[in-house]
Amino acid sequence: MSETIKVRSDVVNEDSRNVLGRILLIVRPYWGLLTLSVALNLLASVFDNLITFLHQKITDQAVIPGDIDMLWHFFTLLVGVIVILIVVNLLSVILTGKCSLDMEKALRASAFRHLHTLQLSYFSRTPAGWILSRITSDTTRITDVLTWGLFDGSFAIIHVIVILGFMTAVNWKLALIALTMIPVQVWVGWEIRKRILRDQREARKQNSLMTASLNENLTGIRVVKALRREERNLHDFEKITEARFHASYSATRWNAILNPLIQFLLFFTLTLVLWGSKTQFKIGGLTIGGIKSFISYFTMLQWPIQELTRVLGEAQQAIASGERYLSLMDTEATIADRPDAKPIDSLKKEIEFRNVSFRYDDGDRTLVLKNVSLTVQPGEVIALVGSTGGGKTTLVNLLARFYEPTEGEIAVGGNDYREFELSSYQSRLGIVLQTPHLFSGTIRDNIRYGKLNATDEEIVTAAVQAGADDFIRSFPNGYDEQVGEDGALLSVGQKQLISIARAILKDPQLFILDEATSSVDTITEKMITASLETLMTGRTSFIIAHRLSTIKRADRILVIENGEIAESGTHSELLRLRGRYYELYSQQFRLEREIPLMRQLGT
Ligand SMILES: Nc1ncnc2c1ncn2[C@@H]1O[C@H](COP(=O)(O)OP(=O)(O)OP(=O)(O)O)[C@@H](O)[C@H]1O
Ligand SMILES: [Mg+2]
Repeated sequence: MSETIKVRSDVVNEDSRNVLGRILLIVRPYWGLLTLSVALNLLASVFDNLITFLHQKITDQAVIPGDIDMLWHFFTLLVGVIVILIVVNLLSVILTGKCSLDMEKALRASAFRHLHTLQLSYFSRTPAGWILSRITSDTTRITDVLTWGLFDGSFAIIHVIVILGFMTAVNWKLALIALTMIPVQVWVGWEIRKRILRDQREARKQNSLMTASLNENLTGIRVVKALRREERNLHDFEKITEARFHASYSATRWNAILNPLIQFLLFFTLTLVLWGSKTQFKIGGLTIGGIKSFISYFTMLQWPIQELTRVLGEAQQAIASGERYLSLMDTEATIADRPDAKPIDSLKKEIEFRNVSFRYDDGDRTLVLKNVSLTVQPGEVIALVGSTGGGKTTLVNLLARFYEPTEGEIAVGGNDYREFELSSYQSRLGIVLQTPHLFSGTIRDNIRYGKLNATDEEIVTAAVQAGADDFIRSFPNGYDEQVGEDGALLSVGQKQLISIARAILKDPQLFILDEATSSVDTITEKMITASLETLMTGRTSFIIAHRLSTIKRADRILVIENGEIAESGTHSELLRLRGRYYELYSQQFRLEREIPLMRQLGT
């Protein structure tokens, strides 16, 4: 996790009331439901206390005088109250639960939607884990406090008030003793819980570091083994687990102290109350039933007080979660439709780079593309070659509008592409990336990804055109074969072919290929080259290729060096020039021709 992200996630810099207010505004549709559940809670609390009140009456007016009729009378009353309590409790728990799940769903959906409006640069600089925890655990923590926290908190407050009311009704002097002790109890509970929460938060942080470290080690296991990093990595891992142990152990210790301390305060107060009730009994201010119910009221008071301190602690955490959630929602999309953006009818038009310069926001701020000018006719195939880091990927990223020019403009049919709606522009593009990405699911799902309404026949046709049909059919489940997470069950060449089939099915008007240095065998390479031919025919294409065969096919080759077009022309023109292309060609591409030749000659 980078420093900037750490700062963003851990420091509370907004006024917490402001965060709470904004989150409350977001969940405004649920206010009605929430109020209803709090109201039902109030009812439940009143009925709950009524039961203890009835117990007192039963002791004083039925059990002690031995009045059976009275006992029966109170018993029916008690049953009635219990039935109502059960129904009210049931309703309020269901309501709160529904509200909590609905709210969580809404917060997640709006974060997910917002996330997809953000430009690529946001994802290059924000770790995926950071985004994941904003959408999962942070939303849960917020909704838990707004629903169950409010539920338990209001229940506790109402309970405290009602119990104090009943206690005062029994004997106000004793109630006063209890009342003075409540703030002490809340304060002690709150202070200890704050420490527990702090330790738990630290433990969670260490836990996510541990998961990340494990994940990196497992995904990079080959590199780890090859470089013999096992010992060093184990040492790093142990340091993290050690830190996690300390944090968790400290939380456990505070937890162990909490209960005895609370119990001590409880018994201390109880002793005071008993001492007071002895005096009250003597002067006739209290009955035996009164003492009994007062003590049970007092004991009952402990639970809501502990609940209150717990909810307060959780609310504090939820505010931090709310702030992190809002920081995600506040990230503005820098690439978005202009207010007057219009749909584009076609990309089969002249494409023009007009003095395009570009720098990445978060790079070292040097220009990655410098004053690039280029005119491409519809249907033309442009190949981009050049040294690594020269700016080829950047150029096609701008064309795909994943980024927009810092200076200059890219025009389609004579109009700056920023005048068009992003979705209508990008939906006409077909892109095959350097490392093809497949989603877990079947091969069929993956080919269909860019055109959800495609029929099975269309999928097969696209696969045939891509030259992928044969190997797909050789799988036991054919098109329904699972590809695994990121296509892990397939070879790199197979993934390439499937992603080309996906692009063919989408039938794009502008095709972009950012091809990896070939990592496949010669037969697969031939298949890929053939399927790319199919894809490029009749479409404007920009291909960053490392294969000579693909490059030779291009109408024009651009040599990109240090963010500039160093040379431009056809294969033979550029060879004749004896410049940078010639150099690249003789260094790199000649090998390509020579290796098979050498193999043939057996050398
Ligand atoms: N997301 C990014 N943020 C900041 N700088 C970047 C980013 N992506 C690329 N760069 C920088 O921009 C420059 C051009 O990179 P680019 O990926 O366009 O090169 P390339 O020609 O595609 O190289 P290769 O042949 O290795 O794929 C490099 O110096 C690189 O460090
Ligand atoms: Mg690249």
